[in-house]
Amino acid sequence: MSNTYDQVLYPSKAFQDTHPDRLATVAALHGLQPPTRACRVLDVGCGDGSNLIPLAVALPGSHFVGIDLAARPIAIGQGTIARLGLSNVELHALDILDFPAHLGPFDYIIAHGFCSWVPPFVLDAFFALCQRHLSPHGVVFASYNTYPEGHLREATRRILRHPGADSVAGAKAYLATVRQQATNPVWTTILDSEIERLNARDENVTYHDELGGAYHCFYVAHFLERAAAFGLQFLSEAKLRAVLSPPFSREALAQPNEAAYQQALDFATFQGFRRTLLCRAENPVDRDGFAGRLPELLLASPLRFVSRSANGGETFRNERGPGQAELNHPQLLALLHQLESLWPQARPIASLLPPDPDPAVLNQILALAAAGLVALRSFELPAASAPARYPVASPLARLQASSGPLLTTLLHTHVQIEEAAGRQFLQLLDGTRAASSLAVGGETLKALYRMGLMIA
Ligand SMILES: C[S@@+](CC[C@H](N)C(=O)[O-])C[C@H]1O[C@@H](n2cnc3c(N)ncnc32)[C@H](O)[C@@H]1O
Repeated sequence: MSNTYDQVLYPSKAFQDTHPDRLATVAALHGLQPPTRACRVLDVGCGDGSNLIPLAVALPGSHFVGIDLAARPIAIGQGTIARLGLSNVELHALDILDFPAHLGPFDYIIAHGFCSWVPPFVLDAFFALCQRHLSPHGVVFASYNTYPEGHLREATRRILRHPGADSVAGAKAYLATVRQQATNPVWTTILDSEIERLNARDENVTYHDELGGAYHCFYVAHFLERAAAFGLQFLSEAKLRAVLSPPFSREALAQPNEAAYQQALDFATFQGFRRTLLCRAENPVDRDGFAGRLPELLLASPLRFVSRSANGGETFRNERGPGQAELNHPQLLALLHQLESLWPQARPIASLLPPDPDPAVLNQILALAAAGLVALRSFELPAASAPARYPVASPLARLQASSGPLLTTLLHTHVQIEEAAGRQFLQLLDGTRAASSLAVGGETLKALYRMGLMIA
């Protein structure tokens, strides 16, 4: 049966917050023991597999299943899988209501952009699937629109979906007309920010996300209540910043339970979208011992040493984006220097610190992770850090480089390589050519390694 996602393709991509590594890391910080080697992963509403296929490339020892109601994106994804010759990922054109039991169980279940865009009975079917097929220490990722910001989205959606609008362009034009007529300053501010948001979006995304038939916002407490009816509990949010450095502490918001605290956070911060992790209700969740659990994890650092001051403090710059850090604890400085040349590889934190590490260092690692300046990990990712004699780029990135600038890294992030020559070069890196024979500077090659595009 054809649905709107067959008629208008949804531009999917990789979402780092859904990576089993992220799910396992957040779960481990909360005292769970999620699987970190061979695992089984389900992506519900996977579209063309843009999120799932890079995971299958990066974690060859694990198995991946994607389902989607729309057959056309599934066929596109199956084509990509065949071209890459992957045997650890399968995509099925399937309604979640018909999910066959033999496909489970799963250690990680991902539903990105699904829960808010299906009717309530399909959301219940999703929770029921999790209840049936989630392994005992498994983790569910579910993203969804939330109130209070959702009220603004709903107000705009009403206008966009007015009866005369028969296209995205027509809907946006009508919204612009309403803005011109508006005089209330609160309303004009809201409309301006909504118009700006919509103008920055791909029109096909707007077609589905804003104009589609099913659109639901949730109070997080209600979402968690529904999940609880299926034996699932709130574990955490997926974003490390939300976990490690929430804008208000539990004490400050003084709520009777975790769901009420999360709801109070949303009220205070005007939350509009959540990336929530759930686990089975019977698992004990400990929200107080993050620093003590760090030695169970791995750490990678893209920080580059910049300078040393007279008092021994050192400045590091984030080579992946904005931000720098000024640090002075000798244990932390030694650890960062050790990791600098290894990026994007990680090392066990226990091997980087003395047996009885200073708790201050552990807290500073948490602060750096919350700021996105270092990466906490649970899985060994296959991104190599040093050029091999016969360099090998990710086969997915090589395939993507043949058709456009947007490439998915082995870290489940994206990089843009705009120059055609750079993309052609990447395609040559299939392990058959010696690094010494490549007609390009060593710095260019090193840059590909630091982007997380190289397997060897
Ligand atoms: C907003 S898209 C999200 C796609 C992708 N997960 C992403 O975030 O980019 C929602 C997807 O859910 C799929 N879907 C909707 N109802 C479904 C159902 N009952 N069973 C399986 N998939 C469904 C749609 O076909 C669509 O591909």
